[in-house]
Amino acid sequence: VIIFMKSIEWLNNSIRFLDQTELPLNEVYIDTSDISILADAIRTLKVRGAPLLGIASAYGLLLGTQKEIQSSKEQFIRAFEDSDALLASTRPTAKNLFWALERMRNILRLNSKEDSTTLFDRLKSEALSIHEEDRVMCDKIGAHGADLIPMDAVILTHCNTGALATGGIGTAFGVILTAHNSGKNISVFADETRPLLQGARLTMWELQKAGIPATLITDNSAAWTIKTKKVGLIIAGADRIAADGDTANKIGTFNLAVLAKEHNIPFYIAAPSSTIDFSIQSGEQIQIEERGFGEVLNGFGKQIAPNNISVFNPAFDVTPHHLITAIITEKGILRAPYGNSIASMVKQ
Ligand code: MRU
Repeated sequence: VIIFMKSIEWLNNSIRFLDQTELPLNEVYIDTSDISILADAIRTLKVRGAPLLGIASAYGLLLGTQKEIQSSKEQFIRAFEDSDALLASTRPTAKNLFWALERMRNILRLNSKEDSTTLFDRLKSEALSIHEEDRVMCDKIGAHGADLIPMDAVILTHCNTGALATGGIGTAFGVILTAHNSGKNISVFADETRPLLQGARLTMWELQKAGIPATLITDNSAAWTIKTKKVGLIIAGADRIAADGDTANKIGTFNLAVLAKEHNIPFYIAAPSSTIDFSIQSGEQIQIEERGFGEVLNGFGKQIAPNNISVFNPAFDVTPHHLITAIITEKGILRAPYGNSIASMVKQ
């Protein structure tokens, strides 16, 4: 069993995070007590992955409020609200970010009569719980999901869903790791995941650290790899899941679900319940982040397309629920009809 580094950590009055844009060649940690540095790190994907964005934004509220503990209560609350708005403006798609902010807001509401010192302590313990609960959820997702992985499975995955993206062993990666650790003799193909190459840079790095047999492919090799390398299942994470099971995840995930159907292999999503947005009925209502054209225009250390062209750079797509074989959560494995299985999961 591999003990991974913590991709983010609360130190006494500051956070320490691993700058994921420096991977795989350099492991650079950044210490800061400045919320604007964290917000910038989230925008630029130094800190990324849906569950980690939840944890980071909870810690971000601590950074934003701690300097007002000695000030008036009004100032403390204003600092909370400003920090909340700043963090909410960083990235729109991952539900976990907004879910964590909402949990912290609830603590503020429930403790509104307390002084700032007590209020801050309560916020701090909530942020630490969000982090610890995510670690536990990852373990449970791994255990539930590993039951779905046959012996000798050849698995295709996309983007990065491991310890870097979460507070624990990961979501889809957690399933892969748990199956590997239980001796299932699995092997993995990882999509490089253009434009920002989370698969090549981050997932291959994690797979290598974990000692899992793995092969990197370009995104456009997926169909041919599935066909010729006997890929038996595809598993990916999620950034937001609607009440009907429609799932937003890293751009290219939808392609893989279509390919799974063509090849008649299962397509699984693994995510904690904090990724589910019960307030929206379908994927139509999920806001898809569009990022700067420079991410597509440049790559491999240089500009790769002409100047003055138009570029479309959605960071996520939505896989329709009918293409998803099952959604693996910490509470168990959800299957169609997802409207029912998701609704009954809430009641657990
Ligand atoms: O843009 P990113 O790198 O934050 O996107 C991450 C993904 O799409 C992951 O697959 C998703 O967050 C699931 S993470 C466990």
